[in-house]
Amino acid sequence: MKEVTAVPGATGALVGSRTHSADGTVLQPISISEARIIRDQVLNAGGSATRSIYPGDDAPDTLHLGAFVDGQLAAVATICCESMPVTSNAGQWRLRGMATLKEFRRLGLGKRLAEACMAYAADHWGTLLWCSARVTTLRFYRGLSFQEQGESFQLPEYSDEVYILMRRALP
Ligand SMILES: CC(C)(COP(=O)(O)OP(=O)(O)OC[C@H]1O[C@@H](n2cnc3c(N)ncnc32)[C@H](O)[C@@H]1OP(=O)(O)O)[C@@H](O)C(=O)NCCC(=O)NCCS
Repeated sequence: MKEVTAVPGATGALVGSRTHSADGTVLQPISISEARIIRDQVLNAGGSATRSIYPGDDAPDTLHLGAFVDGQLAAVATICCESMPVTSNAGQWRLRGMATLKEFRRLGLGKRLAEACMAYAADHWGTLLWCSARVTTLRFYRGLSFQEQGESFQLPEYSDEVYILMRRALP
C-alpha cells in the first residue's frame, strides 16, 4: 500500500491523507496498481488488463483514492486534471475509475470517495468536475449534483456500456 502523505496545500477534510470514519472505514491515497486491481474486477471484468490503464494515471497531480473496510480495499476512485472533450478550459478535473466491489455497494463508499476527489480538485484550483458516466449509474452522479451534458454515446473499443458526459461546478 502506498505510504500515506499529506497533499501540500490541501485543506479539505478528506484530501490526501488517511481519514477514518466512525464506522471504521478508512479513506487514503493508493497506488496506481491498487486502483487497477479493483478497476479490473469491477469495470473491466473479463476484458484486457490494458483497459484498466487510463491516460493521466501517472501524472504527478493525479490522485488515486481507496476506501478500506476492515483493512480490505473495497472501493476506488481517481481524479485527474483533464479538460472535457471539445473544451480547453483550465481548472477542469475528471473523475474516473469509480468502482466499488459488489459486496460493499450502497454503503456510501462511492459517495465519500467522490466527495474526497471533489475536495482535492477544488484545492487544486479546479472549477469544474466531469466524468463519462455509465447511464446505469445516473442516479449515483445526480446525487452528487452532476448534470448530464449532450447525447449518450458508446465506446465499442472499451465496452458495451452506454455513457453520457456529466459535469458539476466546483465550489
Ligand atoms: C457506481 C458505484 C461506484 C457506486 O458506488 P457505491 O459505493 O455503491 O455508492 P454509494 O453507496 O456511495 O451510493 C451513493 C448514492 O448513490 C446511489 N446509488 C449508488 N449506485 C447506484 C446505482 N447503480 N443506481 C442507482 N443509485 C445508485 C445510492 O443509493 C446512494 O444514494 P443515497 O445516498 O441516497 O443512499 C458502484 O455501484 C459501482 O462500482 N458500480 C459498477 C461500476 C460502475 O458502473 N462505475 C461507474 C462507472 S461511470
